[in-house]
Amino acid sequence: MENSRAAVSAHEQACLRVASLFPERWLRHYVRNKLRFDPVFAAAYDLLGNSSEPILDVGCGVGLLGFYLRERGFRQPITGLDLDGRKVRRGREAANGRYDHLHFVEQDVSTELPSFRGNVALFDALHYLDPAKQAALLSQLAARVALGGMLLLRDCPRDGSARFWVTYLGEIFAQTISWNVGVPLHFPQRDSIFDAFSPSEFTSEDKPAWGGGPFNNRLYIFCRTTDPCLEGRSRKA
Ligand SMILES: C[S@@+](CC[C@H](N)C(=O)[O-])C[C@H]1O[C@@H](n2cnc3c(N)ncnc32)[C@H](O)[C@@H]1O
Repeated sequence: MENSRAAVSAHEQACLRVASLFPERWLRHYVRNKLRFDPVFAAAYDLLGNSSEPILDVGCGVGLLGFYLRERGFRQPITGLDLDGRKVRRGREAANGRYDHLHFVEQDVSTELPSFRGNVALFDALHYLDPAKQAALLSQLAARVALGGMLLLRDCPRDGSARFWVTYLGEIFAQTISWNVGVPLHFPQRDSIFDAFSPSEFTSEDKPAWGGGPFNNRLYIFCRTTDPCLEGRSRKA
């Protein structure tokens, strides 16, 4: 009981500290509530907390995951990639040199990604890419997950449920107010996500990650159990 109260308090304090990094009142309010009530940030903390591997945050937005993890005590290098130069700049301004080894880079992740080995997060960004680009991105990301490392993917599967349609309409609203990039939406099928992660290399699971909200968000967890380079070498030997 004491421990769970301490964990809640650590989470709440981290949410407050991250929100305070942003100068605009509306953004502080948004960030605080997003971090408090969206379960994906605390889930990432729980899942990645024991790993010393660096983290690649793909489609990082204004950098909430990186800030939250730093404020929960993570010291691993974190690199965020995002197409939207405005968000990358906001993230850099908010960081303002406070955190070592936390970088935000403007990059379209449907192009060749930087070389990287570690844990990967891809939260609420896959559906901005068309199916061919989604498959290419997932294949690049799978190759970058370290042995024993994880890829955490959160998105809304296109399953036709009421939750799916609420998520779809919420996204259209975020695009209308120009908070999210105005590109065609391609919510993925569950199978097209799993296809990128061979069962001979990854364990996989997925579970709801919508907290108390109305959205259809699910968290997909892929953990690398074999190293494809070593496997290839031992097969040749
Ligand atoms: C809904 S936001 C999620 C932001 C962040 N992952 C979070 O959970 O707070 C989706 C992000 O994906 C980014 N994005 C969309 N298409 C992208 C692309 N092709 N390359 C890089 N980032 C992209 C958008 O700019 C946006 O910041």
